[in-house]
Amino acid sequence: MERGGLVVRAALLGDLDAITKLEYDSFPEDRVSRRSLRYFLSAPHQPVIAATIGNELAGYALVSLRKGARSARIYSIAVDARYARRGVGLALLQACEKYARLQGRAALTLEVRYDNAAAIALYEKSDFRHFGEHSDYYADGATALRYKKDLVRSRHSQDRGPPRRSKRARLRRQR
Ligand SMILES: CC(C)(COP(=O)(O)OP(=O)(O)OC[C@H]1O[C@@H](n2cnc3c(N)ncnc32)[C@H](O)[C@@H]1OP(=O)(O)O)[C@@H](O)C(=O)NCCC(=O)NCCS
Repeated sequence: MERGGLVVRAALLGDLDAITKLEYDSFPEDRVSRRSLRYFLSAPHQPVIAATIGNELAGYALVSLRKGARSARIYSIAVDARYARRGVGLALLQACEKYARLQGRAALTLEVRYDNAAAIALYEKSDFRHFGEHSDYYADGATALRYKKDLVRSRHSQDRGPPRRSKRARLRRQR
């Protein structure tokens, strides 16, 4: 996907240094280690997504696919501060949704620190809904808010037939 110089693509092993730096710069603790990032970047199902602007890494996301689960989970997402508020986070989230759908997942979940206002605003703008919490989730004891987005329309909304006539319209026809 390309939009105004922004390219969103599957990340490659060659992105390891830049992604590790971004992950370490973005999170003081509870980081994904370089070793784990290398493992995910080598995985055949390509769960790491890179956003680049002019060949520089502007952001990245890692989607976790637990076997047998109906949801995929955003394990990490970060945008380089130099590229903040340019829609990179939004584009990465959309790419995560597309990836999860292609992997046959019906929903996307994530956890976010209760005081991460920027990320919470991003998720709520993208129609994720708050559905729970994990207390004492982060290394410093902070609470995580759990967010979820359904990726398929419910059967109920798909199976609904043509719109029902209003009572008034039915009465008019009977006259
Ligand atoms: C959260 C983060 C990914 C947002 O990335 P971004 O590329 O700057 O976000 P976008 O430009 O796509 O913003 C989309 C919307 O999210 C909201 N938003 C993003 N940053 C915001 C901020 N600092 N304050 C308030 N709202 C914000 C806004 O609604 C914004 O739309 P707008 O710019 O039209 O008002 C980025 O700030 C980041 O990497 N933070 C550090 C790592 C992190 O906390 N990751 C999330 C872990 S759960």
